[in-house]
Amino acid sequence: MTQSFIHIESPNYLRAGELASPADWPALFGNDHPLALEIGCGIGDFIVKTAADHPGQNFIAIDFYNKGCYKTCRRIDAAGLPNVRVLREEARQFIVERIPKGSLSAVYINCPDPWPKKKHRKRRLVNRQFVEFLAQYMAPEGDFYFATDFDDYGIDVAGMMTAVAGFENRLAPDLYRHELAGYHLSKYMRKFMAEGKRIYFIHYRKA
Ligand SMILES: C[S@@+](CC[C@H](N)C(=O)[O-])C[C@H]1O[C@@H](n2cnc3c(N)ncnc32)[C@H](O)[C@@H]1O
Repeated sequence: MTQSFIHIESPNYLRAGELASPADWPALFGNDHPLALEIGCGIGDFIVKTAADHPGQNFIAIDFYNKGCYKTCRRIDAAGLPNVRVLREEARQFIVERIPKGSLSAVYINCPDPWPKKKHRKRRLVNRQFVEFLAQYMAPEGDFYFATDFDDYGIDVAGMMTAVAGFENRLAPDLYRHELAGYHLSKYMRKFMAEGKRIYFIHYRKA
């Protein structure tokens, strides 16, 4: 069954093809506040709460799921938030084409697809290669947040991050925690917690 494509009419929805490479984010937001990125925003519940908490930051929320972008825009528009823009984009391509190097003050990745089968693990978004790639686009002291319910993914990323040069573990001496004060829960986090699963939260800062 094919899902129908929803046309998104929102002042906060941007089409990457219409932007410069890299995009002029201060012009798009109308200010030069620090720029944060959520990869895989889903229905936007996390970014709406996070952006409301941080009016002095700009947030880009991306997902390659059309309906998720639509729902995220609906939430942002209803909340009247001026500091979020949404794009239906694949993370790696979007970052390379639209994000200036050294510009991201924070990156959030919540419950990325876990690809549980061993033979599919190489499809996971977050691995050492991806974090080293991402690091080029992060500002000094930029925060990297990762959360998953999937034990094996959480433990893998926690272990891998200790080997990536130029990042400091903000949860030391813990490699991960199952609760992170002040960090909003996403739809998937709540769903997994309702099933009795624990979330692995990881927080590193670019040195
Ligand atoms: C399991 S859902 C989690 C959604 C949300 N972060 C949450 O925690 O409720 C993963 C989301 O990431 C998106 N996604 C996965 N890989 C992506 C990629 N490479 N670029 C953009 N979005 C991606 C999927 O479309 C999906 O909406």
